[in-house]
Parts: sequence; structure tokens; C-alpha cells
Amino acid sequence: MNKTVRIGFIGAGGIACWQAEQLKKIQGAQVVAAADVSDIALEKFKKQYNPPHVFKDWKQLLAMPDLDAVSVCTPNKMHCLPTLAALKAGKHVLVEKPMAMNANEAKAMVDAARKAKRLLQIGFQWRFTPAAQLLRKRVASGSFGDILYVRCQALRRRGIPSWGVFGRKDLQGGGPMIDIGVHILEMAHFIIGAPKPVSASAACYTYLGDKKPAALCSWGIGITRATRSRTWRSGSSSSPTADRW
Ligand SMILES: NC(=O)c1ccc[n+]([C@@H]2O[C@H](COP(=O)([O-])OP(=O)(O)OC[C@H]3O[C@@H](n4cnc5c(N)ncnc54)[C@H](O)[C@@H]3O)[C@@H](O)[C@H]2O)c1
Repeated sequence: MNKTVRIGFIGAGGIACWQAEQLKKIQGAQVVAAADVSDIALEKFKKQYNPPHVFKDWKQLLAMPDLDAVSVCTPNKMHCLPTLAALKAGKHVLVEKPMAMNANEAKAMVDAARKAKRLLQIGFQWRFTPAAQLLRKRVASGSFGDILYVRCQALRRRGIPSWGVFGRKDLQGGGPMIDIGVHILEMAHFIIGAPKPVSASAACYTYLGDKKPAALCSWGIGITRATRSRTWRSGSSSSPTADRW
């Protein structure tokens, strides 16, 4: 493809910076805009990646006529609404994992992409690792016979993340399953050839652990933040119309 793909970020925090760093290595990709409700995040992103346009309101970013694609890097609760709006505005979308807070939101996003005839991709990068690619090839070529059972396991050895909104159920939507669990499930599903589900059932704990910060990670995080991270806050609407947090 000869055309330069002009990309805008909605949410300019940690993962947006990581993505922008990778995009610097890709010829034909240009970061042209970022939107974030936080001045601090926006300033940091601007300093590092110098996009010509920055906005406090992502709707202004979507109004840019010469924007080709959008990367939605907001907290989980804010994935659906900007994705729907971006697709409606004719942009291709990469939305970070987890795709959405629930199946209804996810279905609305897929429907919107089909209607707009635009690409919608989820930030499941592990499927592109050499190990996952090799396994998928080997499964497809029959090296392992018929796959009857898959066991997935993911462990974050540094404990419960204490930055961002990990301790906010209203914004995060869940615990380890919605955070790293989705990565490992998606990768397993991809490797075995994405069979159509017949049924699904699950059980999740809401308990988040009670280890002291020193045991959680080696760089030492304040007790207040670590304590907060194991206390879900409840009460806010799960409606995709609430676009601020
Ligand atoms: N693919 C991966 O491996 C991976 C890794 C890390 C994070 N993520 C995902 O990326 C998303 C963001 O995580 P993060 O670690 O970058 O969090 P973060 O807190 O560092 O960044 C989120 C940013 O979104 C901004 N924001 C919040 N509401 C907004 C709104 N209404 N409009 C514009 N900006 C808004 C915040 O101010 C913040 O700067 C999460 O969904 C997370 O699950 C994916």
C-alpha cells in the first residue's frame, strides 16, 4: 500500500504511548492526532510523539476529515462509545482489549463495523507472536490430531496492577479475567482455529487479594493505592452513553 495511513489516538496514556512507539517503525503510518481528558497525559504524548493535532474531546478528533484510522486506548468502559462513533465517522478502528464491558457492547461494535464497511480490530497482539503463529500452523496441519481440550493459564507475577483504573469495577469491568484472561483465551481460541462455540459458562471471583504492596511488586507502591486496588467501587451505569469518568 502506497498511501500513508493517518492515525489518531483516543486515550493517550500508557498503551497509546507504547503503540505510538511501535508505529514510528512502520513506514506509511503517521500519528496525526490524540485526544485525552487528562492534560498531563496529552502533554506527555505530545512531547514524545508530536502529533499535529491534540484535543480534550475525542469527538473533535473524529471530526477530522483526513483521519484514516483511530486507536481507542481509553479505560475499558470507554471502548464502546468512541469505537461506534469512529466507525460511523468512516474511520478504521483498533480498539484495545478487552473489546468491551459486555457482549451487547461487543455486538454493537461488530454490527457498526459491518455497516460502515470499516476494519475493526481488537488489541490482541499475542496471536502475532512466533510461538502462537507456529502453534496455529501445527494445529492446522494436523500435528496434534483433533484438539479435544485446551487448558489456559496466565499469571501476572508482579501481583495486582495498581496504576490506572485497575481498582475501579465501574471503569475496568472485572479483574484478571477481563484483563489478562482475555489475552490467553483469545490466543488459545486463535491457535485451535477459532471453532464456533456451542455453549459457554464461567465463574469468576471478585476477590482481589490482600497482600501488602511490598509483596505485590518489587518497585514499591504506596499502601493507599494497593489497598484501593482490591476494593471494587460500584454504582455507576454500565451504559455506553456515559463518556466521562
Ligand atoms: N494489549 C495489551 O496488552 C494492553 C496492555 C495495556 C493496556 N491495554 C488496554 O489499554 C486500555 C488503556 O490502558 P492504559 O494502561 O493505557 O491506561 P492509562 O490509564 O495509562 O490510559 C488511559 C487514558 O485514557 C484517558 N481517558 C479516559 N477517559 C477518556 C475519555 N473519555 N476521552 C479521552 N481519553 C480518556 C485517560 O486520561 C488516560 O490517559 C485498557 O483498556 C487496557 O486494557 C492493553
